[in-house]
Amino acid sequence: MSLAVVILAAGRGTRMKSDLPKALHTICGKPMLWHLLEKAKKLGSKKTVVVAGYGIDKVREAFGNEASIVEQKELLGSGHAVMQAAKALKGFKGRIAVLYCDTPLISDATLGRLKKVYDDEKANCTVLSMILDDPRGYGRILKDSSGSVQGIIEHINADEEQREIKEVNAGAYIFDSKDLFDALKVIPRDPVKKEYYLTDTLEVLSRKGHVQSVVADAGETAGVNTQLELSVLQDTMQNKILNELLESGVKIRDPKTTVIDAGVKIGKGTVIQPHTVIEEGTVIGKGCQIGPFARLRGASVIGDGSIIGNFVEVVRSKVGKNSQVKHLTYLGDAQIGDHVNIGAGTVTANFDGKKKHVTVIKDQAHIGSGTVLIAPVTVGKGAKTGAGAVVTKGSYIPDKGIVVGVPAKSLLLKNKGKR
Ligand code: UD1
Ligand code: CA
Repeated sequence: MSLAVVILAAGRGTRMKSDLPKALHTICGKPMLWHLLEKAKKLGSKKTVVVAGYGIDKVREAFGNEASIVEQKELLGSGHAVMQAAKALKGFKGRIAVLYCDTPLISDATLGRLKKVYDDEKANCTVLSMILDDPRGYGRILKDSSGSVQGIIEHINADEEQREIKEVNAGAYIFDSKDLFDALKVIPRDPVKKEYYLTDTLEVLSRKGHVQSVVADAGETAGVNTQLELSVLQDTMQNKILNELLESGVKIRDPKTTVIDAGVKIGKGTVIQPHTVIEEGTVIGKGCQIGPFARLRGASVIGDGSIIGNFVEVVRSKVGKNSQVKHLTYLGDAQIGDHVNIGAGTVTANFDGKKKHVTVIKDQAHIGSGTVLIAPVTVGKGAKTGAGAVVTKGSYIPDKGIVVGVPAKSLLLKNKGKR
């Protein structure tokens, strides 16, 4: 049975005190919505629909290629939000997972469990729940004596006795597509908040079939409403990212001072030294040494066995295999081959004030300490630059060529002239 995912992200997130839509606030370098879209992929989503409202243009710009983005013009509640996805899902039959954009920590394993229980129990809905000592603010899960869910009552609508219930709605569900949209047609508009609650569909569905709750660890289901909550969650997610890398065979000497974004890939046997920041989809091969005090970003790629040492920044660049960039260097928009040595203090001057330009350094080249390469520049295979050379814009150093000085001139030609 196929599965579609609806992600609710129309809320403005007023308490974030920011003009950015809440879905685009980043956690570990990636927007909250990115994290949710990753979960949708892991669930095996055939079709993913994002319901956006406030700031929808920015959401479209960032994720329009990855999901269909539909608009909820008026924020009339989570039930109303899901209704907006009906058109995009016309003709789809199967399971629909509904996820809220503001709970980015729910693990793939937990969502997998939610799906498995749905299948195993032949339920027409499973809802993720958590047990809280202080359940204030959350929807309470109402069950019968057999443990079947009878419905969800939102905190503000709950009576004294219901407010004692500690099992609450974590805000993730699997539904049958037809049952869900049928139920959405009959739920009333809540008289207190004047909203259509998605949670009201559970009572309708429990009368038709079986609704089951699946309890998750409260650490995974925490929501983001404020910048403070976001930073706390980011801490948790950062630990998770580092732990996963450690488990996969990456050595991280000092996790406390290491920042690695979501989506970064690092191969086995690579060592990350302290105070290193690895961002924006960087990919690092096996057996590399990175840091201390290195920053890699802009989807840079580092080949197996290469060294990116102290105080080195690498952005939008590719470094081949077994190359060394060991000290005090800036590589921007650079394409570096295999077995290249980049001397201490090398700078690729990639920005001319208007445009960024590319520096190409081919295999086995040797860049002397303190070289400035004013892009666009190409350094041929096995070529060398002397210490302190300034290689001017548009230069092409042939294979095995040697240049020195300011501005850099060919040493080989000079020698030839003398002879
Ligand atoms: C919701 C649940 C509550 C649960 C809690 C868990 C409902 C009615 N209640 O409450 O049972 O315990 O989450 O965190 O669902 N949204 C829209 N359009 C709207 C309203 C909301 O897209 O018109 C989106 C929000 O952006 C958010 C999600 O739906 O991603 C949940 O809405 P929110 O207002 O945060 O609901 P809670 O009050 O947290
Ligand atoms: Ca919420």
